[in-house]
Amino acid sequence: MTALVSLEELETQALDSLAAIDQATALEAWYHHHFSRERGELTLLMRRIPQVEPSERKAFGQAVNRLKVRLEEAHAARQADLRSAALSAQLEAERLDVTLPGRVLPRGRRHPLSATLERIVDVFHGLGFDLAEGPEVEDDWHNFTALNTPADHPARDMQDTFYLADGHLLRTHTSSVQIRLMESTRPPIRALMPGRVYRRDAVTSRHYPIFHQVEGLVVEPGITMGHLKGTLTVAMQALFGRDRAVRFRPSYFPFTEPSAEYDVQCICGGEGCRICSYTGWLEVGGCGMVDPSVFEAVGLDPSEVQGFAFGLGAERIAMLVHGIPDIRLLWENHERFLEQF
Ligand code: FA5
Repeated sequence: MTALVSLEELETQALDSLAAIDQATALEAWYHHHFSRERGELTLLMRRIPQVEPSERKAFGQAVNRLKVRLEEAHAARQADLRSAALSAQLEAERLDVTLPGRVLPRGRRHPLSATLERIVDVFHGLGFDLAEGPEVEDDWHNFTALNTPADHPARDMQDTFYLADGHLLRTHTSSVQIRLMESTRPPIRALMPGRVYRRDAVTSRHYPIFHQVEGLVVEPGITMGHLKGTLTVAMQALFGRDRAVRFRPSYFPFTEPSAEYDVQCICGGEGCRICSYTGWLEVGGCGMVDPSVFEAVGLDPSEVQGFAFGLGAERIAMLVHGIPDIRLLWENHERFLEQF
């Protein structure tokens, strides 16, 4: 009987101390104290069962088992209470105040160069030009030889080239796409070919080793230099407005004859500044009548078709449209620069 009485005491003490627990670590210690395999209170009681008087052994054993079950249930209940209290506290601490004003995220916008390229495409689309593309990694034939610039031709020095180990090169101009187009399409052709090009040029306020060109090609019988000048003048006026003067200067390209370069009045209004090297003009592109040898290289008969071609420097046009004084600004992408557009 004494053994049973002490079981009741043990139960009262255990339940009281359990009720006072409000920390997970204390709860673990409580469990260990009662149920550890070596020295837990209940473990010791179980070990005592065989030593109890045979007449009382059964009742004692049953009482120990009941106590064990009750304490385990009480422990599980307390554990559930503590867990839900911890969850409530966490939810309370992390509560979102949905009435707080939102943070204004900075808005992205079109890069001035992308906007310029789109505008150029738009203007020529209005003049009836279709779009065409070619690869940036080119072969010698399309970038030079078919454009009347064979290996020993001095004009190769005009465009310092990045060569790849396998003999391919990074195209130095979009004129390579003219060749691809004439190889795959029969005239009449009226196409615009925007793209990225690469040259071993030293970086200056007007030069960058990667830049964008927009090539134009028109091929059909009866095309003249007058068509070329008219088309480019209309396009430049659409891009810059009628007030900005445009001029053509005689020039040389191996793939056009005659050839010209065209300049647009600089953002300084023609007075002269650092951007235009104090000339008042900025060169935006080259152009000319397609050389007969180029037609022959792509299997067209120069006595049957004529054509004109031009190549615009897109960064130069963006600089002139937006008054950007240095080409590097278009590649460095500082936020304070970009957010002005
Ligand atoms: C050419 O690349 C010729 N393929 C253009 C052409 C096409 C002529 C069709 C005739 C017929 P050029 O090397 O001058 O030409 O380059 C054309 C334009 O690209 C230049 O007027 C300039 O606006 C721009 N450009 C040239 N080099 C750079 C550079 N390093 N950085 C930025 N723009 C450049």
